[in-house]
Amino acid sequence: MATMLSPELFREVFGRFATGVAVVTSAGAGGSGGMTAKAVCALSLDPLLALVCFANEARTLPIVREAGRFGVNVLTAEQEQLAGVFASKLPEAEKLDTVDHHLEDGVPIIDGALAWATCELRELIAGGDHTIAIGEVISMGLGGGQPLVWYAGRYHAWADGMPPSG
Ligand SMILES: Cc1cc2nc3c(=O)[nH]c(=O)nc-3n(C[C@H](O)[C@H](O)[C@H](O)COP(=O)(O)O)c2cc1C
Repeated sequence: MATMLSPELFREVFGRFATGVAVVTSAGAGGSGGMTAKAVCALSLDPLLALVCFANEARTLPIVREAGRFGVNVLTAEQEQLAGVFASKLPEAEKLDTVDHHLEDGVPIIDGALAWATCELRELIAGGDHTIAIGEVISMGLGGGQPLVWYAGRYHAWADGMPPSG
């Protein structure tokens, strides 16, 4: 049965689409930072494209725009606390100070990530109160562990019985 359209129901409907959790990072002359994101998606194999949806007010968005690059860091279940830091409004420059990381292609990559990719920004597309950033993958790698999962508005550990990757 269909119900009334509302932002609350929209959140609940799409909240049932379980996702992993990533931290999208960037660094440039204007500063560095990152944000926790679930609206991350593989877009194309040829060329290798990935997309991230940024809220227009996300402070990471102007950093990405200026740097022209961003990183996708897929988090492990052990990195839930880190997801909280990057979802917060801690001063942008301080977020990366809280976590061990290194640079790949000038992009901050979080140590211990389940998987990571660095992307060259190709396009920014307006989408309502969000902006879709499309990036071409320039390098990527795999870590190990179990994924952090976001479902129905909260974090979950990987379901029992599922084999860990890596
Ligand atoms: C699990 C989770 C997923 C999120 N996914 C997104 C997302 O895909 N896009 C987005 O703009 N914000 C997302 N957020 C909210 C941002 O992480 C949050 O607004 C953050 O403070 C943005 O940081 P910034 O302003 O330093 O860029 C998510 C938050 C959580 C907890």
